[in-house]
Amino acid sequence: MKKLILIGYMGCGKSTISVELSKKLKIPAIDLDQIIEKNQNLSVQKIFETKGELFFRKLENQLFTELILSNEQMIISTGGGTPCYFNNHLLLKNDGVISIYLKASIETLFSRLKNNVKNRPLLSNFDEIEAKEFIAKHLFERNYYYNQASKTVIVDHLTVAEVVNEISSTLT
Ligand code: S3P
Repeated sequence: MKKLILIGYMGCGKSTISVELSKKLKIPAIDLDQIIEKNQNLSVQKIFETKGELFFRKLENQLFTELILSNEQMIISTGGGTPCYFNNHLLLKNDGVISIYLKASIETLFSRLKNNVKNRPLLSNFDEIEAKEFIAKHLFERNYYYNQASKTVIVDHLTVAEVVNEISSTLT
């Protein structure tokens, strides 16, 4: 295994799980949103506001492709939309890549995201009820891409440590 890629909707825990997996497996963790922010010296929120989503998606595709094609062993936590644009979902099938879908219910996602919608460019214009409806519809639209993962872990009732254990047990 050269690359372990975590995918899933905003709030499913990709970044947290990747940091803990990195400690356990002793493989560096790379956060794709952070790489994009460093590249532009702007927050994701600001990139959406000033340059638009299409600019963000093109850069996300470019930097994700570079990471996947690099020879380094790494864990990549993607953005919630990463597998859903351009050919990114096909890159999940590259040699040496294992992808994990951290699957959470609408209720779990909403309860984790509701206090933090202002920092999420795709949710920031909605009130709570609208945000919940949006998440439900959006998750449905993205299911096809998330289901391309090599493995799915249902995270709703698991602790971070349990998710990490479940992922690492499938790697041996
Ligand atoms: C997005 C998710 C975000 C970030 C951007 C777009 C999405 O990442 O990439 O706001 O399309 O779902 P997180 O899933 O880490 O919040």
